[in-house]
Amino acid sequence: MPGQRYSIPSIVLHWTMALAIAFAWIGAQVADVFGRGPTKTFVVGSHALLGLAVLALLLPRLLARWTGGVPGPAPGAPAWEVRLAHAAHLLLYALMLALPLSGLLTAMTGRTPFDLAGLATLPNSLAGTGLRRTVKEVHELLANGMLAAIALHVAAVLWHAFVRRDDVAWRMGLGPRPVAGEGPATGEAA
Ligand code: HEM
Repeated sequence: MPGQRYSIPSIVLHWTMALAIAFAWIGAQVADVFGRGPTKTFVVGSHALLGLAVLALLLPRLLARWTGGVPGPAPGAPAWEVRLAHAAHLLLYALMLALPLSGLLTAMTGRTPFDLAGLATLPNSLAGTGLRRTVKEVHELLANGMLAAIALHVAAVLWHAFVRRDDVAWRMGLGPRPVAGEGPATGEAA
């Protein structure tokens, strides 16, 4: 419905998960800087904890979406744009599931049990499958896919905010609500 926002739980979960994904990605890049040793183990473990947080928050996020309602298509959006937005959101949700799961498999196929930054240990019960290399490659591929999907998502939000000047960014708690009549699409949004 135009003029409607996402629910507070949806907004809080969106930004919490966005931060967790960003820091998990940064952690993976930082881990690459270190050679094998306790620092790398700690950074990779922290990276995995952030990724597991994304996995744990996914179901609450979907429940918040189903129970809290979803604002309708952007005001004045053509059908292709609505379809593209749906497909991009579906892809992001699929990646929020598949990426942490592939990370979990990577951790559990290692030569030794996986240290979660000193807080817990994941068993390497899948080490005997010989799939470590494959699942790690899948994990990297999905991480790159996530990066591309997020880039598209951010570009779309910027386009809505600065070209269409509609209330799409505001719906997810970003910035003030555009004033009706100031932008090309706000007349329809009011
Ligand atoms: C949003 C979630 C996640 C993101 C964005 C992410 C991203 C990445 C990236 C970019 C890499 C580096 C790949 C490379 O070397 O080029 C990586 C590696 C790795 N990730 Fe994740 N990951 C996530 C979740 C997880 C989870 C949940 C786990 C485990 C429970 C995990 C375990 C690992 C492991 C073990 C590696 C290999 C580290 C190494 O040996 O250098 N990841 N991840």
